[in-house]
Amino acid sequence: MRLKDKVAVITGAASGIGRAAAELFAREGAKVVVVDWKGEGEEVARGIRDAGGEALFVRADVSDPSRVREMVRRAVEAFGRIDILYNNAAVGYSTPIVVGSVEELPEEHWDRVVRINLYSVYLCCKYALPELRRTKGVILNTSSIMATGAVPGADAYTASKGGIISLSRSLAKKLGPEGVRVNVLCPGTIATPMIAPILEDPEAVRRSEAKVPLGRLGTPEEVARAALFLVSDEASYIAGAVLFVDGGQSV
Ligand SMILES: NC(=O)c1ccc[n+]([C@@H]2O[C@H](COP(=O)([O-])OP(=O)(O)OC[C@H]3O[C@@H](n4cnc5c(N)ncnc54)[C@H](O)[C@@H]3O)[C@@H](O)[C@H]2O)c1
Repeated sequence: MRLKDKVAVITGAASGIGRAAAELFAREGAKVVVVDWKGEGEEVARGIRDAGGEALFVRADVSDPSRVREMVRRAVEAFGRIDILYNNAAVGYSTPIVVGSVEELPEEHWDRVVRINLYSVYLCCKYALPELRRTKGVILNTSSIMATGAVPGADAYTASKGGIISLSRSLAKKLGPEGVRVNVLCPGTIATPMIAPILEDPEAVRRSEAKVPLGRLGTPEEVARAALFLVSDEASYIAGAVLFVDGGQSV
């Protein structure tokens, strides 16, 4: 078991990659705090407990400072510590406010997307850091191939994901001396509800697959396995890394 007795807080864990990570981390011995603003997170936590693991669901909007403070408080109250903060929650293509380039995006959509996708990472790091310093823990942040791929059409999303890489690299430098590792995952096109508009259209799936050297979309479990590696002691000398899990799409 690679995460035995570790306490992992995973945001956006009601669905997709976050859900796969919650289930995998629990199988590897972690006590998991499933965080999401959707009530389905309770089913994920219950599934983990039914399988013999330990999990707590905290319903929270991670772009709300008071809810993030409460998330940290409840994690520590339940499990005594936080070893792993996996910032995974975001809105993407399946959420209409994400779609649009600079000239098309209403200002309030830009603010909302950046608030949910980037400001939330600042908040979760800010309020979990006192605990992570104590445990010499790990932060894993979620960016995207969109951050570096120069793909027009979702400019607030792209900018928020670029900001996550910059923030993570500077945090890695600041926190490394204190024993806290910070890394970034950049998923490619992964079959989750976030890309439902693509998955519902066989032609769009074929177009997406054609961009991937490995010739197919990724699964949430494939991203979760990379996340497991980065938060585990197997990655003990990896800090400030940006790992693409994209079937080669960014090459
Ligand atoms: N699926 C892809 O192709 C892809 C590609 C690149 C990056 N990513 C990134 O991977 C991460 C996971 O995405 P996914 O594909 O599993 O999507 P998903 O939509 O299946 O899951 C995202 C989860 O985050 C939750 N969430 C969103 N905003 C929240 C908020 N403010 N507070 C709490 N919970 C919130 C949602 O309710 C949902 O359960 C995201 O950061 C996404 O940007 C995904």
